[in-house]
Amino acid sequence: SEKIHTESVDFSFEGPFGTYDQNQLQRGLQVYTEVCSACHGLKFVPIRTLGDDGGPSLPADQVRAYAKQFDIYDPEKDEDVPRKPTDHFPTSADPNAPDLSLMAKARKGYEGPYGTGMNQLFRGIGGPEHIVSILNGYTGEEKEEAGTTYYENHAFPGGWISMPPPLFGEDVEFADGSSNELEKEAIDVAAFLMWTAEPKMMDRKKSGFIAVILLTMLSVLLYATNKRLWAPVK
Ligand code: HEM
Repeated sequence: SEKIHTESVDFSFEGPFGTYDQNQLQRGLQVYTEVCSACHGLKFVPIRTLGDDGGPSLPADQVRAYAKQFDIYDPEKDEDVPRKPTDHFPTSADPNAPDLSLMAKARKGYEGPYGTGMNQLFRGIGGPEHIVSILNGYTGEEKEEAGTTYYENHAFPGGWISMPPPLFGEDVEFADGSSNELEKEAIDVAAFLMWTAEPKMMDRKKSGFIAVILLTMLSVLLYATNKRLWAPVK
């Protein structure tokens, strides 16, 4: 099989204490909205979660305004109405474009080494890196097969993807003045898609940390209890 190329990215959310960067998630949401949503959906993501702590944390009025730009069919009124924050993001507009809600966890990115999966441990979880690599991986070559155009891409298994290059750099204008070069836009949208796939990651790490502390304290207590209990016998 051909080697696929997945680049390593140092995301803020990596490692046991990694956290999402709220501004980056907002920039990623912007890239998603202005570029990717033309074809892809996020059908498992409730729009209201854009206001959640640990996510893009948009203020309530911005969440409402965001929801309103997408219509949804209301069977009672028998017409399309603007979405509410309680509705989900739309499904994919292009039936050939996969839903991106869980994409950052559906792809492993790195291979190996030697089937051990150790790359995930040392270079990051792989899914968001795969997304960055796809967006950066176009060579500019294209071919036509059975009426479909395929674009050569170093990061896609098989080397040819039917998604036309979505980002070129300077595709969006970030309000916070962040760089909009291709690589940065790709990293921001990949971080956002990691959040859609794992919105509770920060909560999970926090609970895990507290659990480790409590279990350590419990171990110390049990050790001391055991010593005292058996002291008269020994
Ligand atoms: C596939 C991301 C914009 C059409 C994909 C995949 C990802 C992705 C991660 C799956 C790759 C895989 O299977 O490993 C994005 C992002 C976008 C974007 C982050 C915005 C920056 C677009 C646009 C279109 C599009 C604008 C339509 C013009 C497709 C199609 C596929 C695809 C048709 C299936 C490709 C295949 O399996 O050969 N996209 N996409 N995407 N995307 Fe996009």
